[in-house]
Amino acid sequence: MADQPLVKVTIDNITIEVPAGTTILNAARKIGGDVAPPTMCYYSKLEDSGGKCRTCLVEVSKGSDKDPRPMPKLVASCRTAVMDGMEVKNITSQRVITARKGVVEFLLINHPLDCPICDQAGECDLQDLSYGHGEEGTRTEFRRRTFEKHTLGNQIQLHMTRCILCYRCVLVADQLTKTRQHGVLDRGDRAEIATYIEKSLDNDFIGNVIDVCPVGALTDRTFRFKNRVWFTKPVDAHRNCSKCCGEVRLWMRGDEVFRVTTRRDIWNEVATASDGKTGWICNECRFEKKKVSDWVIEGPTKVNRKSVISANKYVAATKPDEFLEEVMKGVKPRFMLDIHNESEVNEPELRLDLIDGPAHSNDFKIADEAHNKKLLNGSE
Ligand code: SF4
Ligand code: FES
Repeated sequence: MADQPLVKVTIDNITIEVPAGTTILNAARKIGGDVAPPTMCYYSKLEDSGGKCRTCLVEVSKGSDKDPRPMPKLVASCRTAVMDGMEVKNITSQRVITARKGVVEFLLINHPLDCPICDQAGECDLQDLSYGHGEEGTRTEFRRRTFEKHTLGNQIQLHMTRCILCYRCVLVADQLTKTRQHGVLDRGDRAEIATYIEKSLDNDFIGNVIDVCPVGALTDRTFRFKNRVWFTKPVDAHRNCSKCCGEVRLWMRGDEVFRVTTRRDIWNEVATASDGKTGWICNECRFEKKKVSDWVIEGPTKVNRKSVISANKYVAATKPDEFLEEVMKGVKPRFMLDIHNESEVNEPELRLDLIDGPAHSNDFKIADEAHNKKLLNGSE
């Protein structure tokens, strides 16, 4: 691609030069930000991905300098190559914005709204897509698709109802493991990821299906229901591994490693490792190395500020200066108000303001005893 002649393409009024043969999507990713269309099935690290979900639709308002006619229909930017002089509209096209809302509605048509109990919540591409590009509500009312449950062993959980048939997991099994024993069966609304996926689980790299799955259809059973992802702290770490690059992200709470995943790039794809190859990790690193002592910790992961996972991560944050006590001449703020003047929430014997630190159940017991004693004395 690098030896290809450069061609000019204008996307959302920004002109750049890219090698001929580049897709519109990758040209837009060079510009970055919102100009890059969202993707649910394309995955730059997997050959032949894309063309399934239609999330990346764009409008080609000018085909090329040679043939300036616009393309009559919206095109999938992950599958359409740029031409010299091409003009493309993504966020500047009302047609695209409206069509994408329809695509999101279709992707969600059979998807259960079970984010409150789904382990993918907080890092789900479909959740982000529906917030960013979807419409409130749905126009359809019919019985949603359901499936027989497949058990995939102790490491990977499949929830077929959440699957959007992006084929990424099939490509991972095809391209990263020695044998691919699962695929998409049937067509249309019957299509499902099935057959022998459980048999492909003994492949060393099959755990990567969890990381490429854009929704909660494939999740890590060793992490399942253990914690909400935004309560954990992501940390980059590595170890010497004979099977993979050994460069991972640990999701920790205190000293406990809850989960091990690949590292991600800005497109939420598996990042490139320090050896220049894609940083896929093996099952041993992912499922078996759950102790801090297994890893060399590099430091906290830089979390995108837009992600819910960034909540409560104060890397390099400094505590602001507090002047209130100084202004009040050494009187602690908690002594400024007697709660008993305002509320009857506690017995007057319980002086929360006099307790050093947060109240403990023992403090309430002591207050109760004092109160009872007083009552007893009063009755004497
Ligand atoms: S299980 Fe996940 S990765 Fe596989 S096709 Fe469905 S949505 Fe895509
Ligand atoms: S990302 Fe292009 S069709 Fe899915």
